[in-house]
Amino acid sequence: MTSGEKSSPNDIGQKHSVSGYVTVNFVKTTTELRRHLAESHGRNRIALVPTMGCLHEGHLSLIRKARKLADTVVVSIYVNPLQFGPDEDFASYPRNPENDAAACKAEGVDIIFHPDNLYPNGHPKVRLTVQEMSDCLCGSHRPGHFDGVATAVNILFNIIRPDIAVFGEKDWQQLAIIKRMVADLHLPIDIVSGKTVRETDGLAMSSRNRYLNEHERKLAGSIFSSLQLMAENAKKSDKNCKSLCKIAKNYLKMNKIDPEYLEIRHACTLERLERLGGPPARAFIAAKVGNARLIDNISLEDNT
Ligand code: PAJ
Repeated sequence: MTSGEKSSPNDIGQKHSVSGYVTVNFVKTTTELRRHLAESHGRNRIALVPTMGCLHEGHLSLIRKARKLADTVVVSIYVNPLQFGPDEDFASYPRNPENDAAACKAEGVDIIFHPDNLYPNGHPKVRLTVQEMSDCLCGSHRPGHFDGVATAVNILFNIIRPDIAVFGEKDWQQLAIIKRMVADLHLPIDIVSGKTVRETDGLAMSSRNRYLNEHERKLAGSIFSSLQLMAENAKKSDKNCKSLCKIAKNYLKMNKIDPEYLEIRHACTLERLERLGGPPARAFIAAKVGNARLIDNISLEDNT
């Protein structure tokens, strides 16, 4: 395609390759997807970055990581109804496929998988549950959420058969659950994680930040500051998890934020910890600010 030509929906852009121009494919069906991937399987390393779209710098950082690790990069864009509760924001969740396609093009993505419906037979009768890890933290406030995530991600893994899948540390619980699912099911996929990308005041980038008004946006910065406060105190001397959480809760109260949960847990198994100094510890928080439910987490180890 030369620069004056119009692109079709299946042909949304180009990127340079050694062999010249290559089309970035915008694929809606599994049949099309399989056709595009047929040559890559067994020959090229395929990386998948699963997303719900409305891509921001956090997503793009994962795509860049995938680009470095694989020959073929697939980005899936699907607002997964299975992971939303009945009173949650499925209908209003931001969607912007044109912008997403342009962003993917700029990052050299090979295939965007954007199905209208991942469940052509109706909602799946099979659900994947990663036991215990799915019931705590966000799971206890969003029943069934992680079953919806694990089921959708497993379906994407089955359709795309990637060698690598990249997930963000911002959703640490999700990352831990996917790692455990892959280990328990012996899936031949390397799960790679990407650091949380933040705004200048520390707020983790999220598609839901757009729900915040100006005042709420200012308050929201204190979510990460409260985690940093815990990490600093943990480094100094305080090893008691309850007292660390109390310090952060008091700080949040001053900023008019009442967290849904604020807990310290084992970074891999997500079991609750009483004291630091043993297994890898992480602090986890969720808080509603205005209409936005925001989550974040931080390592309480010295060097991560
Ligand atoms: P979504 O919220 O779109 O996030 C897609 C990926 O981007 C996830 O791995 C998430 O952890 C990562 N991400 C989001 N914000 C980030 C940030 N600020 N820095 C770094 N990474 C960030 O997570 C989902 O979609 C869905 O649950 C999904 C896995 C696609 C299953 O439906």
